Amino acid sequence: MHIAVVGTGYVGLVSGVCFAEMGNQVTCVDIDARKVESLRDGRLTIYEPGLEVYFDRGRRENRLRFTTDLAEALAPADVVFLALPTPPGEDGSADLRYVLGVADDVGRLLAEARRGLAGAEAGGDGAASRPWGYKVIVDKSTVPVGTSARVTAAIEAHGLEAGEDFDVVSNPEFLREGAAVDDFMKPERVVVGTDSERAAELMTRLYEPFVRSGNPILVMDEASAEMTKYAANAMLATKITFMNEVANLCDRVGADVDKVRRGIGTDSRIGPKFLYAGIGFGGSCFPKDVQALHRTAGQNGYDFRILQAVLDVNEDQKRALVPPVLDALADDAGRLDGKTITVWGLAFKPHTDDVREAPAHVLIREFVGLGADVVAFDPEAVETTRATFEREPLEGSGSLSYAETAYDAAAGADALVVATEWPEFRRPDLARVRRSLKPGPNGAPLLFDGRNVFEPGEMAEAGFAYRSIGRPA
Ligand code: UGA
Repeated sequence: MHIAVVGTGYVGLVSGVCFAEMGNQVTCVDIDARKVESLRDGRLTIYEPGLEVYFDRGRRENRLRFTTDLAEALAPADVVFLALPTPPGEDGSADLRYVLGVADDVGRLLAEARRGLAGAEAGGDGAASRPWGYKVIVDKSTVPVGTSARVTAAIEAHGLEAGEDFDVVSNPEFLREGAAVDDFMKPERVVVGTDSERAAELMTRLYEPFVRSGNPILVMDEASAEMTKYAANAMLATKITFMNEVANLCDRVGADVDKVRRGIGTDSRIGPKFLYAGIGFGGSCFPKDVQALHRTAGQNGYDFRILQAVLDVNEDQKRALVPPVLDALADDAGRLDGKTITVWGLAFKPHTDDVREAPAHVLIREFVGLGADVVAFDPEAVETTRATFEREPLEGSGSLSYAETAYDAAAGADALVVATEWPEFRRPDLARVRRSLKPGPNGAPLLFDGRNVFEPGEMAEAGFAYRSIGRPA
């Protein structure tokens, strides 16, 4: 099949590369000429495990092309994916300006091509080289319920007929950063939202090779497909947040959230995944999508109360380690002047350099604001962190610097805080870490584990004053 992917951000690039790997002819379009040039030259613009091999192969075998020219990508395409940004607007709702802008362009080009074709049949010239037929336009971006209808209207505004010239389909993605290639190639389900049988058939043909294991392609109406995406992310964010609140209560009653997790996760109705307590969720999706769903509910006269609670609790949870750090280190004025705090992990989760809404950044802001000197280490996310704090500078009398290794970061510090569970933090040379850190108020060096990567018993044995989330010391 011929596919156009408009927008070569994270979702667009992964989708384009993976469709090409499955044998399709893919053209990716972006307005950013530098990005397109880089991709044409064989330089990937994002880091994602496994992507490079498929990217190289697709380019080498001529199934994967990049352009800034939308018309060039549209001409041969059977299916056109819109993978455009939908940043939160000021009121928290998704900003659809890019999606609707491109829909308008697509409509204009389709209409022009059709007029050209009509002209050619009537003896006109030129258009026969672009005999565009029926196309399926797919919303791949996470968009509010009702967007498919708006995209359809934007295209119809150019005199085209839905069902005849084109159809719009909602096809949300469920990719996790760091596992996106696997998630794309072996999805647990594919959701296709459309009332058009013709579009459903085309989409099913496109996705069948990805679900050979028998996982379902679920065809439903557009609104339900759009809702499915938000409901999935909101449910996952709620699940995590619920466990974080259980952990906070465990702390107060002397229970262990890890044991509770196993205790409830074995119930198949609850399931074992996404029950890990910590210093809150971050990333570009959960916070934005929970906010957007809450907003959609409000616009439709429904107060979706649990979602506001999830957002509020998560904001507090990012700061869960601040009170224990202050208890151990603050001066009489409640400040951390002259103290050095090591932060291991800057990315919002392991295996990515993405620091959007990262809990680590919130902690760093708090510590620097209170006068501490923070020394941070992350295997991938130092550059993205630097860029973030250049854009939105830290405030306060403390400072932030970066170390080359996890051990360097800990040298001479008053406390170590684990903010992201990178695998390399799980089995460090504990004796070396202990020697690097300064002794805490009770003689043992302070270790605050925001992701519960260590076992409390082992840490006590290794000589640390250890605090984690929802587990007795
Ligand atoms: C999430 C969803 O998992 C994807 O299915 C979805 O496609 C994507 O958003 C999106 O909408 O684009 P992602 O943001 O990459 O993917 O990250 P997750 O792996 O889901 O993790 C989100 C956050 O939850 C991280 O900060 C992680 O540390 C936290 N988390 C996760 C926990 O605190 N506890 C857990 O048990 C699991």
